[in-house]
Amino acid sequence: MCASLVSERIRLLGPGDLPAYIRFAERLEPDDIRLRFGRLLRWTEACAREMLVSGEAYAAFDAWGEISGIVRIVDTELALIVRSDLKRHGIGLRLLDHAVRRAVERGLPELSGHFLAENHPALALAHRAGFRLEGSYGSLVELRLCLP
Ligand SMILES: CC(C)(COP(=O)(O)OP(=O)(O)OC[C@H]1O[C@@H](n2cnc3c(N)ncnc32)[C@H](O)[C@@H]1OP(=O)(O)O)[C@@H](O)C(=O)NCCC(=O)NCCS
Repeated sequence: MCASLVSERIRLLGPGDLPAYIRFAERLEPDDIRLRFGRLLRWTEACAREMLVSGEAYAAFDAWGEISGIVRIVDTELALIVRSDLKRHGIGLRLLDHAVRRAVERGLPELSGHFLAENHPALALAHRAGFRLEGSYGSLVELRLCLP
């Protein structure tokens, strides 16, 4: 694998990351944004600003300090997205593992995620990280991981 694809580190996102966040969003394909948010969304700087202050978000950074993926935890619910050109390089799994570790450290009882039933990559990823089917509601599927 090319060294540039390997995430250097994962850390909490903060207000100072807005420019990198905007560059990250510019490199997301519309369908990936749809799969992340469950609907088509036009990404604007205002979206990025709002996302930076909602919940707890961790970003994976590449060797140049650019964001390669983000996982967000709001209450016990998580959502994640990987830069479209960097998918399938293990970044999603690293982010999910990081989110689980952080949730355990914070004493959360569980983590769950709602995914579109058509979103096979996300479902496969969550299964691989130990999440199991909790229920399905129309086009949505809920997966849950009980934490120690
Ligand atoms: C879902 C998503 C986060 C996966 O991130 P990723 O970095 O590509 O995933 P990884 O490379 O870490 O994959 C880890 C494992 O997940 C599974 N997986 C990931 N993508 C897959 C795909 N397209 N098809 C089948 N399995 C897949 C595999 O088991 C994979 O392990 P493997 O590569 O050894 O076979 C990414 O596709 C994405 O950002 N999608 C758009 C947003 C989204 O759907 N978010 C989820 C809803 S909140």
